Amino acid sequence: MKNNLVASSIPPVSKNETCGNIYHRFCADDDLIAIAVVDKGEAIGLLKRVDFLTKLADQYGWPLYEAKPVTLLMDDAPVTIEQNHTLESMNEMMLADESALRHGFIVTENGFYRGIGTASALLQANMERAETRMQDLELARKKAQSASLAKSRFLANMSHELRTPLNAIIGFSELILIDDTILNKPDQTKDYIGDIHHSGKHLLKLINSILDMSKIEAGAFQLTEDYYSPQELVSPVIRIMTGMALSRNIRLIVGGFDQNDELFIDIQYMKQVLINLLSNAIKFSNKDSIVRLEYSNQQSGGIIISVDDEGPGMDQNCLQHVMEPFVQAETGHDRRFEGTGLGLPIIKAYVEAHDGQFCLKSAVGRGTRAEVHLPPNRCQKSRVLSLAI
Ligand SMILES: Nc1ncnc2c1ncn2[C@@H]1O[C@H](COP(=O)(O)OP(=O)(O)OP(=O)(O)O)[C@@H](O)[C@H]1O
Ligand SMILES: [Mg+2]
Repeated sequence: MKNNLVASSIPPVSKNETCGNIYHRFCADDDLIAIAVVDKGEAIGLLKRVDFLTKLADQYGWPLYEAKPVTLLMDDAPVTIEQNHTLESMNEMMLADESALRHGFIVTENGFYRGIGTASALLQANMERAETRMQDLELARKKAQSASLAKSRFLANMSHELRTPLNAIIGFSELILIDDTILNKPDQTKDYIGDIHHSGKHLLKLINSILDMSKIEAGAFQLTEDYYSPQELVSPVIRIMTGMALSRNIRLIVGGFDQNDELFIDIQYMKQVLINLLSNAIKFSNKDSIVRLEYSNQQSGGIIISVDDEGPGMDQNCLQHVMEPFVQAETGHDRRFEGTGLGLPIIKAYVEAHDGQFCLKSAVGRGTRAEVHLPPNRCQKSRVLSLAI
């Protein structure tokens, strides 16, 4: 730990100062432990209060030294410490020569006098360091605690999320296998196969999210950027999400996309961002409600892509935590919604990798608005259009 705290800025004296003057200075200030003698900015000695006053109080001291230069009474090899030494090395030096704690020591900066170090200042620096370490430890403890909570939550959710579709796949395929008459019931067979298909897709999405998140956490993902029109980004996303919206009778309204813009993005990651956002908006919304996907140009030259829903919304406490991996507003087996709690942290990581910002605005009963902000360098007007102008 670097330390800047041990020096009190006690004005030094020159080598020609008289002992008489210094005597008066010591007498006027009971707390003055020592004074440095400095020549051209460099400390050449230390006048130690007790030694100095003892000398002058002697019956011959005053007449002998009063008019003489202080160099006669200074310690010309005092303990000297560079102020950017670590506190540990200062403590070690003080332990090796504890007289420096009683008499003070010189603190320098790049060899030049900076102040007088004292035992109390050193003690204070040590106490402040102990305090900072306590706070760091407390922070680390809290982080470890929340990581372990997230892990338990993850395991609980995962076992549920994996078991449910796997049980469906095994159960329905067994039904088809053991029921010899099944081929005569095409509607029922189709239902079973539909459930198997849905469960398989769910498992694939789950595994993809986990792999995406572990790549993010390992810092092992890289953007492959190019220029794309907003349409190239949005159309495939809408195609994918329409089925989910229809199944919940939710109207998906898309607006504001400026086809003159060109977005410099990793299209796969940005599609994933929009899919995760829309799937949350649709999943958590009430049936028969509206979800809006909108695009707006900002004066700064950047853009905002937003997703609004009319769902249940979230309170402030939820909002603070849902960006952390595996956090969901509803926990436990009675959760109403499937999912692992990875969608939002993945969005945040991908948006930030594009130098953008992701924010959620929500209030209970008033729906949720998610905003993806991309900076001006991620969006330019179409080059074809600029050429035409
Ligand atoms: N639009 C929304 N409305 C209400 N709650 C939301 C909304 N979006 C997210 N949440 C809350 O935030 C939690 C975390 O969302 P996130 O997308 O990270 O995970 P998930 O949707 O539960 O699972 P996954 O996305 O991994 O399938 C959700 O479980 C939900 O509680
Ligand atoms: Mg989600």
